[in-house]
Amino acid sequence: MLLQQQLGQRLLLVTALLLAQRCADAAPLQPHIVTIVLDDWGWANWGHHARLVKNQQLQKEVQTPYMDSLAQNGIVLDRLYVHNVCSPSRSAFLTGRNPRHVNLINRPSDMYDPSLSLDGIWGVPAQMTGIAEKLKSAGYATQHVGKWHLGYASDHQMPSARGYDHFFGYLGGGNDHWTYKINKLSKGSCGRSSLDLWHDAAPAADKVPPHACSYASQDGCTYEDALFERQVTGAIDRHAESNATQPLFLSWAPHAVHAPLQPIAAQEAKFDFIDFPARRKYAAVLNDMDRRVGRVVSTLKRNGMWDDTLLVVMADNGGPSLNEGGANNYPLRGEKGFNTDGGVRANAFIAGGFVPQAQRGSVAEGLIGVEDFYATFCTLAGVTPGDKKAAAAGLPPVDSLDMWPYLSGAVEASPRDLVVVSDGHRPQAVIDRLGYKLIVGETSSRVFQQIEPVAASLKQVRLSAGQTWQQVLRCGSQYPPYTGACLFNVFEDPSESNNIAHAHPEVIKRLAKSLDEAQRDTLQRQYGAEPTAPLKSPACLVSEREWGGFEGPWIEYKNSTNPGNTQDARPSLLGL
Ligand SMILES: *[C@@H]1O[C@H](CO)[C@@H](O)[C@H](O)[C@H]1NC(C)=O
Ligand SMILES: *[C@@H]1O[C@H](CO)[C@@H](O)[C@H](O)[C@H]1NC(C)=O
Repeated sequence: MLLQQQLGQRLLLVTALLLAQRCADAAPLQPHIVTIVLDDWGWANWGHHARLVKNQQLQKEVQTPYMDSLAQNGIVLDRLYVHNVCSPSRSAFLTGRNPRHVNLINRPSDMYDPSLSLDGIWGVPAQMTGIAEKLKSAGYATQHVGKWHLGYASDHQMPSARGYDHFFGYLGGGNDHWTYKINKLSKGSCGRSSLDLWHDAAPAADKVPPHACSYASQDGCTYEDALFERQVTGAIDRHAESNATQPLFLSWAPHAVHAPLQPIAAQEAKFDFIDFPARRKYAAVLNDMDRRVGRVVSTLKRNGMWDDTLLVVMADNGGPSLNEGGANNYPLRGEKGFNTDGGVRANAFIAGGFVPQAQRGSVAEGLIGVEDFYATFCTLAGVTPGDKKAAAAGLPPVDSLDMWPYLSGAVEASPRDLVVVSDGHRPQAVIDRLGYKLIVGETSSRVFQQIEPVAASLKQVRLSAGQTWQQVLRCGSQYPPYTGACLFNVFEDPSESNNIAHAHPEVIKRLAKSLDEAQRDTLQRQYGAEPTAPLKSPACLVSEREWGGFEGPWIEYKNSTNPGNTQDARPSLLGL
């Protein structure tokens, strides 16, 4: 009996070894990977979701035929969870960490304190390995086009230091579509309107509009997303021409559909049936973007690359829906900036010839975190997702799980059991694979679109007797033991309207434990203070002197009052 058991075990071992050998021998698949991260794209602002809402006005407003049809021939990722604002989601995507392990806030790039042990600056820590570095090490050509917003105070945070062979885009959170200057919504390093457009290793000085271009005066000017589309299609054409057998990683982060909403005039005219200005502009910018996606897919097809391409399209966070936001997250509750699903459950799909035939047209309902693309891409490229550089700096390891076995149909279920969702300081909610979502503390969550899908503001909502909207969702204390926590089942109740905390004490107990663990292992980032005199800050002086008034890295650059000064330079960063 014992002998038989031992024999059996040995047999198992041999089989396992043989299997491992076969896997090691298999060449990595190495598809072209094209990712499109749309900015502030609301749940109902995708035709695929809008058509489920029985509302003619909404269906007329939301025109995304290319992305609808791509998803129909690809796989809809129905449960992709992201952070509720931009930079943390993008930081997670870049590094394969849950946002709490990399960066939880959007900040300007001029804060700095050289005495802080980790880095003292905002953005992704220089010592974390980005996805493009991984793919480059596997032989990919790499390029990022569009929004960066991952930190740029240091040269070591710039796209070129993150493994991108080429970069064309803006460094901050958003600029003007027509002047490429930082808009008043996102504060620049100099507290003024500096230019924000960068090309490879220098400011894109050749792209500065020759005269006073603006949304109000568009003649002879170039809309920023048109610049980016040209860069993307040019990169594909050049790649196909030079060596199409080399795999390509193309990361495209359009300006759309983020504020300021400044559509091309002819495009806006197509939507003049929408009275409310923000919603009209949002619809116009969105449809413009959809057509660009269509043209980029055509470019891949024309070059014979589509059959080997994995296309990933996703939102970085929910849409801003109130008044000037123009977005719509119906039937999800809340919006960008908050942790009800309207802020953190993102539109997403994959498409392209690389998606297995049998999976096309399906919906993946399992949990996926924004951090999970990292390990998925690494596996497809044939490199491990581990990060030794970060480990040496004492930074958290990669959290990413390989989703390809699930998405390709090799296994039934998503490997992810739990999603952790944070506010700007610490985890605030967890969602498990049964759909239970525990929320603690307070989160704002306007629900007017739950009452009337095409309402543009609270004022337009006609409330029936006994109906209320709730501005703030109060879920007790944000600290253990989380007295007063809310519990929803987001599978059964996507609008999070039915708090079932009283009925499920055992679920609360289980999720509270997970939340407590997540709160304890959150990476505590520290940054310097914002400069008291922004115009005299080193960031601003370097921008003027070194970059001709463009945003740019500044820590490693000597300041203009004393060109010999290098005391600002961080040895730990320079020593990388
Ligand atoms: C084209 O790319 C492949 C894969 O990266 C590489 O093996 C090959 O050497 C390249 N050919 C040329 C001519 O560069
Ligand atoms: C520039 O360098 C000089 C000399 O080291 C220093 O005194 C000054 O504070 C620096 N200026 C800024 C804006 O950092």
